[in-house]
Amino acid sequence: MCGIIGYIGKKQAKEVVIQGLKRLEYRGYDSAGVAFINGGLNVKKCKGKVSSLESLLHESENGHIGIGHTRWATHGEPNDINSHPHTSSNGKLAVVHNGIIENYNSLKKKLESEGYKFYSETDTEILAKLIESFLDKYPEIALEKSVQMATAQVSGTYGLAVVHEEEADKIVVARKGSPLLIGVGEDEMLIASDASAVAEYTDKVIYLDDGELAVITRDSYQVLNSEEIELSKEIHELAMSLEEIEKGGFPYFMLKEIFEQPKTISDSLRGRLNVGEVSITLGGLENVMEKLVKANRIIIAACGTSWHSGLVGEYLFEWLAKVPVEVEYASEFRYKDPLIREDDVLIVISQSGETADTLAALREAKEKGATVLGIVNVVGSTIARETDAGVYLHSGPEIGVASTKAFTGQVTVLTLIALSLGLQKGTIDKAEAGRIIRALSTIPNKIEEILEQSLKIKEIADLFTYAPNFLYLGRSYNFPVALEGALKLKEISYIHAEGYPAAEMKHGPIALIDEMMPVVVIAATEHTNDKMVSNIEEIKARKGRIIAIATPNNNEVMDLAEFSITIPETEDVLSPLLSVIPLQLLSYYIAVNRGCNVDQPRNLAKSVTVE
Ligand code: G6P
Repeated sequence: MCGIIGYIGKKQAKEVVIQGLKRLEYRGYDSAGVAFINGGLNVKKCKGKVSSLESLLHESENGHIGIGHTRWATHGEPNDINSHPHTSSNGKLAVVHNGIIENYNSLKKKLESEGYKFYSETDTEILAKLIESFLDKYPEIALEKSVQMATAQVSGTYGLAVVHEEEADKIVVARKGSPLLIGVGEDEMLIASDASAVAEYTDKVIYLDDGELAVITRDSYQVLNSEEIELSKEIHELAMSLEEIEKGGFPYFMLKEIFEQPKTISDSLRGRLNVGEVSITLGGLENVMEKLVKANRIIIAACGTSWHSGLVGEYLFEWLAKVPVEVEYASEFRYKDPLIREDDVLIVISQSGETADTLAALREAKEKGATVLGIVNVVGSTIARETDAGVYLHSGPEIGVASTKAFTGQVTVLTLIALSLGLQKGTIDKAEAGRIIRALSTIPNKIEEILEQSLKIKEIADLFTYAPNFLYLGRSYNFPVALEGALKLKEISYIHAEGYPAAEMKHGPIALIDEMMPVVVIAATEHTNDKMVSNIEEIKARKGRIIAIATPNNNEVMDLAEFSITIPETEDVLSPLLSVIPLQLLSYYIAVNRGCNVDQPRNLAKSVTVE
């Protein structure tokens, strides 16, 4: 949420900052702005996309030091004035910020009483004026000291970057609750909210932790903790190729990411799935496996699509490892004063590894003594670093705001953990585990088969492009897939959609069904098929328009449905990995038909770093 980039070094800052903003635009895209120092401070900002900002820039807005911001509004509507950077009253200092300053009102009143004037409705502007007020009071102090004094007064969260025209050899950054990293180059340094913005300039990064402040020059970085003690920070090597963060010929990242799934699932399985030996290797969990085996309960906390994969995880763990599971919205978990016992294990699931609510749930559970595991995609992210142990997805950067390959990556990893646990506990026998493991190894090819039907799925999408509502129904492992299908559709096409457990339909949603209502039924698990058929009959009796996701031999379902999309047969426990694919494509094609920007849907952001 909100992207921050900064550059200081041998290149012209403009090209790096603008390119960085384009890479970060998925974090927020309602306005954008830049500040460069070239003699004096030069700020340009506007409502809208980075491309609108670019058209405002002249030759003179340049120099070798600059910061930029792409915004997802929290305080104050998206408009030119509320866009970042925000400046000091004397126009010499500029700040970009990601996060929320919670005590901004009281600080604002105090600063106003001291004569500082405010122009925007943002919480961020107080940072610019507060830093300025320290520089006014103590003219002898350096910019970093004034930033440190200001951050000591604010409560809330921030990832921020500050430049000052009188100290034009440095960028000062600080972090509490919102991600920031330093990209270390040759005669150049970058700062950014995530690695995609620096990957084309350097593969060396330093992740800042909460409470840290850093002073960046073109050839040095100094990281200080809140006591102003210099820290020695580890330099991490980035394994991110440019290809991974470009569209590669696809019109949208979302479509590219849908089509990448055979590969990303293979990457998730590589070196972990031993088909011949019927075993699972998860190096990241070795030290906590005993804890997991002894766990009386697993709690899964996550948000959005990751919460849906957590729900699939509940079925997987309970079925394969016979351990009770509770799946919580991370945002609710934190504030309900959760009861956590020592032998509970919390698993947090997050694509970005930065979601504020998920991070807060992790910290809450850790404080209460639970072992916390992470299922995370972004290597080096805050959640990955703060969990006791975990498993990475290896899905590669996910840039489309609507999550696709991360969902299947998460379900793959959850399946691996549940299988490994089941084998160790002896809750599944080797023959059954062997069957599932063999089936898991064939999932990438089966997804290829589904993707080959994309034209057929597009034809169905063409017929339902203007439907005002959609209902998605599934049972068992595919109930969470119904929720995910509905979420995909509403977030990118703005069509109202609901996901329901198929049998629950009778307790409400059935009232909505008439000859106008498309109902997507996921009939992909054998053990619930008879019941699903009855539910489909109930829809048909009310003239609902049935789009079925079914296996090729499921004639009963296909005969009842108006449209069918077939998915290859697999083990019931693995069916979500296949059944979700047509739903991703269906929502994609409907959104494109409706002229929506599927990678950047209105009001949404990819990485939700505010609560
Ligand atoms: C946002 C994104 C979703 C994502 C959710 C959780 O809402 O738009 O795609 O599922 O955040 O994000 P996380 O990075 O924690 O998985």
